[in-house]
Amino acid sequence: MEILCCPESDVPLDLRLQVAALQHDVWPSDERPQPGPRHDPALRPLSMLLVDDRRVLAALDILSKEIVHRGRRYAASGLSTVVTDRVERGKGYGRRLVEAARYDIGASGADLGIFTCDRPLRRFYERAGWQALAGAVLIGGTPEAPLPSGRFDKVVMACFFTVAPDDTARSFTGCRIALYPGQIDRLW
Ligand SMILES: CC(C)(COP(=O)(O)OP(=O)(O)OC[C@H]1O[C@@H](n2cnc3c(N)ncnc32)[C@H](O)[C@@H]1OP(=O)(O)O)[C@@H](O)C(=O)NCCC(=O)NCCS
Repeated sequence: MEILCCPESDVPLDLRLQVAALQHDVWPSDERPQPGPRHDPALRPLSMLLVDDRRVLAALDILSKEIVHRGRRYAASGLSTVVTDRVERGKGYGRRLVEAARYDIGASGADLGIFTCDRPLRRFYERAGWQALAGAVLIGGTPEAPLPSGRFDKVVMACFFTVAPDDTARSFTGCRIALYPGQIDRLW
């Protein structure tokens, strides 16, 4: 079993087809699963896959952009489309991947990792070293067409990597955080 991490567009086709099928199973659409990249290239999407003998057990994508919060610029990355094959859930594969993603985001030089998840999954991410930001709202979309996470039953999860992470964490709680990832990945 190995973790493969590469730009979304470089994932080999056989693995990409499996990821598309896992995503389609959880987030179905009317169209057939598409093997092509699904994220905005401007967000420098990386795919991270847990693979056993060419079989994808779990997958996620990491999206990145610069954000401005309380007058400071931060290099931010977040998790998107986290999924474990339905028949492989409950075996620790999802946790292994979101832990690895947290490590890789820190090693990439990002100031923080930040993303939203459905409230019931808070514990899943906390077990993998992410922390919930109490009262935080992440604003997706664009300044002209914002999409605040507060419209949904979502929790903002984060991890701080640069100096004085506790101070930084405090400045991100109980407030609105402008992510503005654009119109393709409207909220991550
Ligand atoms: C969420 C998901 C990726 C978890 O994957 P997994 O491989 O089953 O997770 P793990 O086996 O690593 O579980 C790790 C821990 O999280 C808990 N957990 C897993 N899924 C959970 C869920 N849906 N709700 C609450 N807790 C959950 C597990 O019980 C386990 O806790 P433990 O350490 O106390 O035993 C998987 O359920 C999935 O693909 N769900 C559908 C897609 C989805 O909702 N993605 C998240 C988008 S934000």
